[in-house]
Amino acid sequence: MSWTPSSWRNFPIKQQPTYQDQNLLKTVEEKLSSFPPIIFAAEARRLKSKLARAGRGEAFLLQGGDCAESFSDFDAESIKNLFKLMLQMNMVLMYSTGKPVIKVGRIAGQFAKPRSSDFEEIDGVKLPSYRGDIINGMKFTEEDRIPNPYNMIKAYNQSAATLNLLRAFSRGGLADLNRVHQWNLDFIKDNPLGKRYDELSNKIDHSMKFMAACGLNSDTLPQLHQTTLYTSHEALLLNYEEAMTREDSETGKWYDCSAHMLWIGDRTRDLSEAHIEFFRGIDNPIGCKVGPSMGEDELIELIDALNPDNEEGRLNLIVRMGAGTIAEKYPPLLKKVRDAGKNVVWTIDPMHGNVEKSSTGFKTRNFDNILSEVEQFFAIHKEMGTVAAGIHLEMTGNDVTECTGSTSSPITDEGLASRYHTQCDPRLNASQALELSFMLSGTIPGV
Ligand code: PEP
Ligand code: CO
Repeated sequence: MSWTPSSWRNFPIKQQPTYQDQNLLKTVEEKLSSFPPIIFAAEARRLKSKLARAGRGEAFLLQGGDCAESFSDFDAESIKNLFKLMLQMNMVLMYSTGKPVIKVGRIAGQFAKPRSSDFEEIDGVKLPSYRGDIINGMKFTEEDRIPNPYNMIKAYNQSAATLNLLRAFSRGGLADLNRVHQWNLDFIKDNPLGKRYDELSNKIDHSMKFMAACGLNSDTLPQLHQTTLYTSHEALLLNYEEAMTREDSETGKWYDCSAHMLWIGDRTRDLSEAHIEFFRGIDNPIGCKVGPSMGEDELIELIDALNPDNEEGRLNLIVRMGAGTIAEKYPPLLKKVRDAGKNVVWTIDPMHGNVEKSSTGFKTRNFDNILSEVEQFFAIHKEMGTVAAGIHLEMTGNDVTECTGSTSSPITDEGLASRYHTQCDPRLNASQALELSFMLSGTIPGV
């Protein structure tokens, strides 16, 4: 069946806004189509070949960032903190596994959110649900909740500015391995976890000194001086994604140039619907969430639709079952895919299956459940003799109080209120994310 960037429009679609002003929508789409791409096709191809390595167990995928980015919390400090956190986690995971870590941020485009209900009702007032800043506003007012096409332009601009800063951090010296100590974030420096990170940094310092004595330093080896952080988001709002999709002049293939990698959410992965249609035609590396409702045959059909050539590194399946469900639901799916000989990059999202309500009324996730789902994921892969290729987290480099538990930053139900800033789902704060990395470093098989 022929594919075009707009062929998804012929299919049923879920989780989309209803725009009132169709003329404005069209104008915005045309504007976006004329803007420069945010990423370049060759970068997406490079990520795909790295993911192919992850799928073979030769690299580890670390994907993480906000549940949803926001227009109001947009500042250099938060971007820098997430970048530093990714570097720290990268160090911990790389040191323990001996494998390169592929860093992919949920950033520079993660603005659209699927919602469990189309409407929200408070004290008898019913308004359209908030669907992410690229669509409407979060305030519970009629004006804010009207979907505004112009928000797509704002999201494009913010994504471009964010990626510009990330590229500067990656290439400009902050990622230099001689600066591992400086990545430690102020609010974890003094707790035991910060100290543990410092010990690891000392070991890296020693290795750097040894290498420098051998004549290998950041001047002679760019790998020691710079890094690459790729971007990703859920490609939910297809009006935006279509407008960002361009034909690559080098290969003649289509790339969604809004991010290096895009994924399909658990609620919009229906085989006969628009998101699958859109994704099958773009050549980026792509992800698809796999929740507890996924059937075995359905999963094989989905893989065939999205990766008909069984290309390595093309398809990342992001498992999100929940700590209490993964042991029952996941092994049959994994076995089916393994036995069918499909090339898949399996990772675990231990966030979305572990949402709960705290006794104090907050949407939260408990650290022990998050850790447990990750550990079970690795154990299941070990048992099946297959590759567990990475983790997918909602996290922030900031000192927030959104998820409960952990040893380094123990947050109680009562403590959630103090810095609960998320735009959507609760994120691990920097010390919780770093603690998770240290705990995993004994779990992930090394080389
Ligand atoms: C998400 O990753 O933010 C998300 C909504 O996940 P899922 O589609 O797995 O629910
Ligand atoms: Co989320």
